[in-house]
Amino acid sequence: MPADPLLQPYQLKHLSLRNRIITTAHEPAYAEDGMPKARYRAYHVERAKAGVAMTMTAGSASVARDSPPVFNNLLVYRDEVVPWLRELSDACHEHGAAVMIQLTHLGRRTRWDKGDWLPVVSPSHAREAAHRAFPKRIEDWDIARIVADYADAAERVAAAGLDGIELEAYGHLIDQFWSPLTNDLEAPYGGSLDGRLQFALDVLNAIRGRVGPDFIVGLRCVLDESAEGGLTRDDGLAIAHRLKASGLVDFLNVVRGHIDTDAGLTDLIPIQGMASAPHLDFAGAVRADVAMPVFHAARVGDVASARHAIASGKVDMIGMTRAHLADPHIVRKIMEGREEDIRPCVGANYCLDRIYQGGEAYCIHNPASGRELTLPHSVVKAPARRKIVVAGAGPAGLEAARVSAERGHEVVVLEASGKPGGQLRLAAQTPRRREMLGIVDWRVEQCQKLGVTFQFDTWADVEAVTAHKPDVVFVATGGVPHTDVLKHGNELAVSAWDILSGQVKPGVEVLLYDDAGDHTALQAAEVIAAAGGRVEIVTPDRTFAPEIMAMNLVPYMRSLQRSNVTFTVTYRLQSVALDGNRLRATLGSDYGATQQDRIVDQVVVNHGTLPADELYFELKPLSRNLGAVDYAALLAGAEQATLRNPDGVFDLYRLGDAVAARNVHAAIYDAARLAKDI
Ligand SMILES: Cc1cc2nc3c(=O)[nH]c(=O)nc-3n(C[C@H](O)[C@H](O)[C@H](O)COP(=O)(O)O)c2cc1C
Ligand code: SF4
Repeated sequence: MPADPLLQPYQLKHLSLRNRIITTAHEPAYAEDGMPKARYRAYHVERAKAGVAMTMTAGSASVARDSPPVFNNLLVYRDEVVPWLRELSDACHEHGAAVMIQLTHLGRRTRWDKGDWLPVVSPSHAREAAHRAFPKRIEDWDIARIVADYADAAERVAAAGLDGIELEAYGHLIDQFWSPLTNDLEAPYGGSLDGRLQFALDVLNAIRGRVGPDFIVGLRCVLDESAEGGLTRDDGLAIAHRLKASGLVDFLNVVRGHIDTDAGLTDLIPIQGMASAPHLDFAGAVRADVAMPVFHAARVGDVASARHAIASGKVDMIGMTRAHLADPHIVRKIMEGREEDIRPCVGANYCLDRIYQGGEAYCIHNPASGRELTLPHSVVKAPARRKIVVAGAGPAGLEAARVSAERGHEVVVLEASGKPGGQLRLAAQTPRRREMLGIVDWRVEQCQKLGVTFQFDTWADVEAVTAHKPDVVFVATGGVPHTDVLKHGNELAVSAWDILSGQVKPGVEVLLYDDAGDHTALQAAEVIAAAGGRVEIVTPDRTFAPEIMAMNLVPYMRSLQRSNVTFTVTYRLQSVALDGNRLRATLGSDYGATQQDRIVDQVVVNHGTLPADELYFELKPLSRNLGAVDYAALLAGAEQATLRNPDGVFDLYRLGDAVAARNVHAAIYDAARLAKDI
């Protein structure tokens, strides 16, 4: 068999990289006080242990006080970072992985009301839509100060024993100088392309002055902004050639696009339903033209695509960044010939969206990523084999079954419908979100390998459960749509689920009342609009779809704006009544506005779910723990040992939306952390 191109080593100057797979810079926002402490270290060490060639730590680690952290970035402008970086790099080196760090000054891509409340600087006053700060136009003394800050930061990194640095130059200060859209300075730092490159060269020269010619210094840079008036592909190639000619740069990590808007960012880092590897050919063209070591990452999420990227000679090192959040053991599984066991990245982008909205990056279906200190990626065998019954084969039930089977238990899953997946199957109704089924399929395949028995079309009542004589029962029966939220006329409304599942035909003129703000409402709106319906989405919130985070919203807006779907915020649907053969929907407001009516032919309500909890409450009196979860033990990673009913015959736990409406990550995390100690 020919050698796997992905597993071939690569020589970058003096540095031997053991294979071609890297994780590119991604700030997971796990820093504590701006430092990469134990949690941060454990996250990278997990990937190093499993074989990744190089981990580019941080993401946008800040070099200056006026580049304040916007997503809990590392603060490399502090000397105290050196010992923390030293511990991190030593720990990764021990497992054979190279370690670098991405450094940056964010320029206008931050906010003045963070950190030290210093003014935000940029080479023009142009505001960045995403972070909203109106920047100060940078002055000569700012430039001198920031150039020195870069050099100081690089020196700290070298002192900490890392293998190199990468400067962020897409959407940040360095390329804000490059782009005509954000630089209206005159010479020597503006005007011609050479003028606009001067700041980058000053920074690189200053860094080389501190770390010498051997230390690895790369640039992650935009070489085509794909924006009117911005850097073109020709500009990008000219920049790449000048950087090469400077002799100051060891590799280019190629980026195409712009990140000043959510839409731009999402085209640069595509999410599920969008094309795979859309910028790989461009990276290949840069490599062919410039003949420098080229790195690249952008939705190369599976091993076959990564292998193609290397085998075709388009890039030297391929980034599989989100793929490693979903499964940090990719390289090990390739080496062991177990590619089919890799937990797939389904492109849900929960990880990246969360760093702004939720604060820390978490993978939608791998709760252990970022929680390595408390939730191991590999489950250990239980001391004794037990009989486990799981009611419900949605994400929580499947995860409970998978982890229990990994523990060595005998597991039976009872599912009322004919297929696994629960609400995820509804989510995957939208073709763009079909990849969500990967969350289900991977678990089912793993369960089957581990000998789990599935009984579909099986209603799990007390008898069906107890017939298995279980030691432990997990109730993961999910939820049912909660539409009973109006003062009058609940019976005249249908649920967003009814629309998504196809149980109810979409109307022509539709008011969609979204009080949950999650995917279900917008998915239903897309279905109605696609069937030719006119949709007005009404929400009592001050913004629509608050649970759908920035990049996830982009494909929805592209679709909904095409269909002229409208949004009305801050109004609450109060009641629905018959009006001839149509419906009169009456809206009120928490802010005291007078009532408004809409005459429509369909009212759709999205208000989350209520737990489907009958089975749980019927089983509760028969259980030893009476359903109780010992939270102290759960959070300490200890065994559950609650005995509230000595006559009970099994332990009983409720998971996911059967407890309360939450999301896929919460459901899987519920199951993973309980089941690992049972
Ligand atoms: C949580 C998270 C944070 C990120 N932060 C940065 C960053 O600070 N700097 C950067 O250059 N890229 C950042 N990225 C982008 C990744 O480096 C990578 O380009 C992107 O995820 C696309 O590659 P992938 O499809 O292999 O994940 C981040 C990605 C994630 C998931
Ligand atoms: S959240 Fe989604 S995109 Fe991010 S790593 Fe997990 S599966 Fe991939």
